[in-house]
Amino acid sequence: MFKNQYLSLFFVGMILSACSGAEENLSDDLSGNEPQVEEAIDHHSYSNVRDVRTSHLHLNLNVDFDSKTISGSALHSIENITKSKTMVFDVYDLKIDKVILDGQFETTYSIGEKDELHGAPLTVDINENTKNVEIFYSTDPSAQGLQWLNPQQTSGKEYPYLYSQGQAILTRSWIPCQDTPGIRITYSADVKVPVDLMAVMSADNPTEKSEDGRYSFKMDIPIPSYLIALAVGDLEFEPLGERTGVYTEPSMMDKCEYEFVDVEKMVNTAEKLYGEYKWGRYDLIVLPPSFPFGGMENPKLTFATPTIISGDRSLVSLVAHELAHSWSGNLVTNATWDDFWLNEGFTVYFENRIMEEIYGVEYAEMLMQIEFEGLEFENEMILKGDHPEDTKLKLDLEGRNPDDGMTAIAYVKGALFLKTLENTVGRVKFDEFLNKYFDDHKFQTITTEIFLAYLDKNLLKPNKVEFNTNEWVYEEGIPNNCIHIHSDNFDKVDEKCQKITSIYSALELDVKREDWSTHEWIHFIRHIPAEADADDLAMLDKEFHFSNWGNSEIMAEWYLVAIEKNYDKIEPYMEDFLIHVGRRKFLEPIYGELAKTKQGMELAKEIYAKARPNYHSISYMTIDEILEWDSI
Ligand code: BES
Ligand code: ZN
Repeated sequence: MFKNQYLSLFFVGMILSACSGAEENLSDDLSGNEPQVEEAIDHHSYSNVRDVRTSHLHLNLNVDFDSKTISGSALHSIENITKSKTMVFDVYDLKIDKVILDGQFETTYSIGEKDELHGAPLTVDINENTKNVEIFYSTDPSAQGLQWLNPQQTSGKEYPYLYSQGQAILTRSWIPCQDTPGIRITYSADVKVPVDLMAVMSADNPTEKSEDGRYSFKMDIPIPSYLIALAVGDLEFEPLGERTGVYTEPSMMDKCEYEFVDVEKMVNTAEKLYGEYKWGRYDLIVLPPSFPFGGMENPKLTFATPTIISGDRSLVSLVAHELAHSWSGNLVTNATWDDFWLNEGFTVYFENRIMEEIYGVEYAEMLMQIEFEGLEFENEMILKGDHPEDTKLKLDLEGRNPDDGMTAIAYVKGALFLKTLENTVGRVKFDEFLNKYFDDHKFQTITTEIFLAYLDKNLLKPNKVEFNTNEWVYEEGIPNNCIHIHSDNFDKVDEKCQKITSIYSALELDVKREDWSTHEWIHFIRHIPAEADADDLAMLDKEFHFSNWGNSEIMAEWYLVAIEKNYDKIEPYMEDFLIHVGRRKFLEPIYGELAKTKQGMELAKEIYAKARPNYHSISYMTIDEILEWDSI
């Protein structure tokens, strides 16, 4: 309700100013009505940040693998804007022991009713002069934002492992905090872990294990709560360049170093495009395979899945993506999860620019066409489903899991909106605009409406460009003026695809594995003609070994066609893949495809019974739904 009121005010403002004529007046008049970030409402946080907010957080934590808990305290230095008598934090299944004000006074607090999605509000009684609030607490062993791995689930099989995942609203399951992207805080931490393990955070990090398992961290640059992150394991560090490096388990290190040769170059390239990298170091940690995402842009330390370690450096666009978030997302942050496209759409656009710069325009076009085809497919699916409005860039996720917004709409429709704008005004002007956008909003949070007003004022009006911005942002589907994405490389692949009918043997295709890049092979698999049957797939598999190719993207794509065409030779390979890999992007379509038939569903359940204990809650919650799995 609020949003509509506010929007209509904004548009009335625009019309009034437009009527007033002169360009100068226009911006003056507009300024009175310009959208403000304070007006944004985050439906996914209970916190009262308009009244009182954390400015700095100090964590004092002990990580205990036996009980699978983190315990200690979160010391919040606060700014009491309205002299509020209470401060509200978000918590999810945290056990609160006591709350101390200003290091001296134990205070009263209450925990509201828990709801499955948001957790509960923790309301602490403070007074107008309170400077800090220290919450003593411990986490629940099933905390959704933490995954505790036993040694078997790691690469080295010798030590346990722990990592956190905060985005979107899971930080509250391991830190009592104002868990909204709408405010930024600095943080520091003293963390105690078992001797033999190293702890790293989204902060300045150690490069060697400490003698006593104690580590101290500092993040002096203000960040939103979803970017606080921790990983603990048998880790090593190797530099990749002057300001880049990689953390991983010893047995993964050589492969990671090989894969990431271009990371330093990526940082330099990104800086040339959109301005200084503001975070000091850019390191990566390659996690065990249960990590539910491809990557997570935790500042200074990207968390990444080992499924990008393909041995041929073909999946490093993921690094470009997470690195790009150092500008879009981490420097300029979406104010609410309804504005998620501001994080991801800008990042996909930026990622593609980095890839183009380093690997050439043809390579970048292949990547974009694959994304575009994914968008067309998902857009259709969403339009046919219960929430067609999810195809708008600006979302309304009130009462829903913010993860529901993690679709190709935010990512690819968002990026194509920017690409179409670029195509309209020209690259030079668009790059100037983006540089200024990042600079003008650095370390701020931003709403869609603020961006649109800024776009209008700084790009469209000065260049006298008419653009269907509202259609792109507030209407469903993909607008007709969407830039056309076409990769010439894929035309050649298409020619080969047409030949796969039963009368052709795979050999007659006259291609070898090494002739094509991963992306050409993905395109090939996706475009195997509808008439091809299980025998055709068997022929292809014999020649190319798709079932155990080794590259996760290619295998996942292949399993989908194989399931559809009943090519059952994939089963042992697919089972192995599903048991070891926890990345939701792969699991969701494979289980989804299996669940389409009775026989497939049986197989899916048989595999899932073995695989589920390896998955992160983010992944198993999605798959539980697909398989109608009763987890109790
Ligand atoms: N920030 C996202 C991951 C995310 C989004 C986690 C929403 C939780 C909620 C990250 O940058 C991302 O987009 N990862 C992608 C990879 C990327 C190359 C598209 C992924 O994990 O697949
Ligand atoms: Zn992203």
